[in-house]
Amino acid sequence: EGSDTPPGNKWSFSGPFGKFDRGALQRGLKVYKEVCASCHGLSYVAFRNLAEPGGPSYSVAQAAAFASEYKVKDGPNDAGDMFERAGRPADYFPSPFPNEQAARAANGGAAPPDLSLITKARSYKRGFPWFIFDFFTQFQEQGPDYVSALLQGFEDKVPEGVTIPEGSYYNKYFPGHAIKMPKPLSDGQVTYDDGSPTTVAQYSKDVTTFLMWTAEPHMEARKRLGFQVFVFLILFAGLMYFTKKKVWANSH
Ligand code: HEM
Repeated sequence: EGSDTPPGNKWSFSGPFGKFDRGALQRGLKVYKEVCASCHGLSYVAFRNLAEPGGPSYSVAQAAAFASEYKVKDGPNDAGDMFERAGRPADYFPSPFPNEQAARAANGGAAPPDLSLITKARSYKRGFPWFIFDFFTQFQEQGPDYVSALLQGFEDKVPEGVTIPEGSYYNKYFPGHAIKMPKPLSDGQVTYDDGSPTTVAQYSKDVTTFLMWTAEPHMEARKRLGFQVFVFLILFAGLMYFTKKKVWANSH
């Protein structure tokens, strides 16, 4: 029945001046690649995006090298055959399953959703009075809080009164608590070369930050422009005030 409310986090990207933590984006990409990618697609993201401003900040050469580690389906060639080749920057992340039926068959009937937009697609509803605050943050932290909590929400001990069917797993934050995704992360599973802790908590925050970027790759530019618009409007309002005083100076 129901689900628990995910705990809030201090995200680098929250607020009107929020930015993505570059280190978290790069580590999160590694977690996605080494763990999530065996079941979840990222089909709206192209390898070239990894070198665009406002993202993980890889160079064009690094993005090309990353792409070349993937095998991508292409064709038909002149002989009419489909073939595989190394990935190029213009390619999108390949999906792990050829179609939804195959995805379902491999996962006990539940297809793992594409993760490109997942941080925007999942939110939770808070009761009065907390939902009032949610209007100010435009609900932008709800999705990341949920995804991060979900990844850390697998527990061996199932609470009394909850029954988990065969092939499902108990998760504290999944609606209904029975999820068909097995606990994907465990401590030490992914190596980091920047000294960050290799814990489930850290992996969860990093991959969630990465998935927030895939869902809103132009967030930093949007916030910068929004701020510039505010500055302009304030200056313009001041100008208009003095203009009005001048124009109406001689009227009684
Ligand atoms: C569902 C994230 C790894 C299989 C989900 C959902 C998210 C997610 C956000 C949606 C939950 C919802 O509907 O509210 C991730 C991340 C992973 C990861 C970030 C890597 C750290 C995996 C792996 C597998 C898997 C390795 C396969 C072994 C599934 C399946 C579902 C699912 C089958 C559908 C569950 C259901 O509807 O019952 N995952 N996942 N995931 N995931 Fe994963």
